[in-house]
Amino acid sequence: MRRVTSLVGLTTLWLGAATGGATAQTSQELFQTRCTVCHTIGGGKLVGPDLQGVAERRSEDWIIRFVQHSQQLVQSGDPDAVALFEEFNGIPMPDQSLSEREIRGIIDYIVGGSSTAPAEPPPIEQATAEQILLGQALFQGKTRFANSGPTCNSCHDVINDAVIGGGVLARELTTVFSRLGGPGVRAILGSPPFPVMQRAYRDKPLTDDEVVALVGFLQQADAEQPLHQPRDYGMGLLGAGVVGTVLLLGLYSLMWRGRLRGSVNQSIYDRQITSI
Ligand code: HEC
Ligand code: HEC
Repeated sequence: MRRVTSLVGLTTLWLGAATGGATAQTSQELFQTRCTVCHTIGGGKLVGPDLQGVAERRSEDWIIRFVQHSQQLVQSGDPDAVALFEEFNGIPMPDQSLSEREIRGIIDYIVGGSSTAPAEPPPIEQATAEQILLGQALFQGKTRFANSGPTCNSCHDVINDAVIGGGVLARELTTVFSRLGGPGVRAILGSPPFPVMQRAYRDKPLTDDEVVALVGFLQQADAEQPLHQPRDYGMGLLGAGVVGTVLLLGLYSLMWRGRLRGSVNQSIYDRQITSI
């Protein structure tokens, strides 16, 4: 029995050492695949804050808790978390399923890797009018995506007269461009950090051209937003329904004005009476 336990102990030690070695190598990869969509190190704000110097601003424990469950920290009323959440327009940072050790590795990478980060987020290609139209068609599924991903408006809506109403599963995107900025929207489309959207496009990624077109469309929808008021069909529709019903009923009674009234027997009876 003893021997078994010590064997288990040994194996655990060995496994621990092996994975420990592996994390040291992959912290950079982890950061690049999971975090660069929204964060830079020394490259300025993206969707989330620039993480340069974060280890001096916050304690390690705080960072670990925030990365694992940022919303829990916000809801618990932690003043730093609440202030950040408000500063970043209430965009929740999605929970990252990373172990404490992986996060410590990432913190080390951030501390040590500041100088390797790009000085600026990549420049955004300005979309042409043609691309904006393409983006609009892609958004509502009039044009299909090259890799046949689902249309955006199955989950999102944009208030724009040129676009038919969209889904309400996810946020309305009319002003997303001013909220997240070009690099932010672009980063999200290039590699969506939201689980639902991630799943939808995992095997059907958008092409670079499609991303440029969609970003262009969202930028335009945002800029034009004051011109496009959401149409409210509610009362108009009800009124039209009532008027239509009355008209139809009137028409029917006119068409069938010669219809039989009263019982058949009554008319036979009357005829019998008069013919006597
Ligand atoms: C979808 C975008 C997104 C992704 C992906 C993301 N974050 Fe964030 N992060 C944010 C936002 C937004 C904030 C600002 C706080 C808020 O709005 O809740 C933030 C805040 C933070 C903070 C607090 C910064 C400060 O100044 O105190 C840390 C630390 C952080 N993120 C680390 C990470 C790490 C590490 C990863 C990758 C494992 C990551 N984030 C992935 C969006 C993201
Ligand atoms: C399967 C549903 C689904 C589809 C399809 C989808 N999204 Fe999303 N998207 C989401 C969810 C869920 C979020 C997370 C934020 C939320 O809850 O609204 C999101 C977030 C976003 C955000 C960030 C919004 C914000 O304010 O933080 C943008 C931008 C976005 N999507 C654009 C698009 C575009 C463009 C397309 C089409 C290529 C698309 N999405 C297709 C579900 C979807």
